[in-house]
Amino acid sequence: MIVSGFQQGLVLALGALARSGVEQVGLEDPGPRQHDEIVRRAGMRPVAVPVDGAGLDVDALRRPGARAVLVTPAHQCPTGVVMGPERRHALVAWAAEVDGIILEDDYDAEFRYDRQPVGSLQGLAPDRVLALGSLSKTMAPGIRLGWLLVSQSLVGPVVREKLLTSRGAPALDQLALAVLMESGRYDRHVLRMREAYRIRSDVLAGAVAQHAPGLRLVGLDAGCHAVLELPAGVAEADVVRSALHHAVRVHGVSHYRVDAPRAAEAHVPAALVLGFGNVGEERILHGVDVLGGIIADGRA
Ligand SMILES: Cc1ncc(COP(=O)(O)O)c(C=O)c1O
Repeated sequence: MIVSGFQQGLVLALGALARSGVEQVGLEDPGPRQHDEIVRRAGMRPVAVPVDGAGLDVDALRRPGARAVLVTPAHQCPTGVVMGPERRHALVAWAAEVDGIILEDDYDAEFRYDRQPVGSLQGLAPDRVLALGSLSKTMAPGIRLGWLLVSQSLVGPVVREKLLTSRGAPALDQLALAVLMESGRYDRHVLRMREAYRIRSDVLAGAVAQHAPGLRLVGLDAGCHAVLELPAGVAEADVVRSALHHAVRVHGVSHYRVDAPRAAEAHVPAALVLGFGNVGEERILHGVDVLGGIIADGRA
């Protein structure tokens, strides 16, 4: 189904799940902003599930008794972790055990720098996974086109949600996109942007090595953001505030904590989320220079 971006797809999918009897939805913690509120609006309860170095903690997901979960396996938002093969299989096994559904936000999957794009969860278990894709990262957020790949059992309920909400998606925009795809220009655009973002991510890594030596930068395997871990004793909120004072805008990882009951306590170290999707090389260098100075002052 073609929809107006990921966000609309999510709202439709959650509406269909709520009406088919799902009461709780697991959300990655930290995770994308506002999903807790969107789940509540759909009439269900969000549950915050911790994320570690391999992705969502599937054992913790078992405890609350949720039957749906929303994940960003290709490049976890915001930690940048790529969900490992074991976790992927464990998650699919969980879905089969609880007769559940996995909502896969396939965001950033097109922009991998270290290897071939990782396979989707949807490809592993088409009956258990509802995949959501979008043009917002590959082209531009303003285009407002996205898609859902819906497992057979949910086709009817999701179509009903769409019909009662917006009936369709702009046909001219879809025709234009079809021309881009059929001519190969969409693929060429994605390849070109992948190279542009790879260069920016290298610039970011180099700037951190120069201006914030010794600090770990993680999540650079894919996507348009990375996470800079802060040294002990340096408060995330203070760095964010001082940076803004110097016209450098970043968020702390705590900005992405899920506001919902927790399936298990998550240890989320102080860190900054550094986005470079719409920032040129000079501004990356300048921004990291500013951040490096603030962090050094904080340490002192
Ligand atoms: C985690 C995540 N998924 C998906 C999207 C795309 O959302 P949309 O297609 O509604 O613009 C975004 C926003 O860029 C995002 O942060």
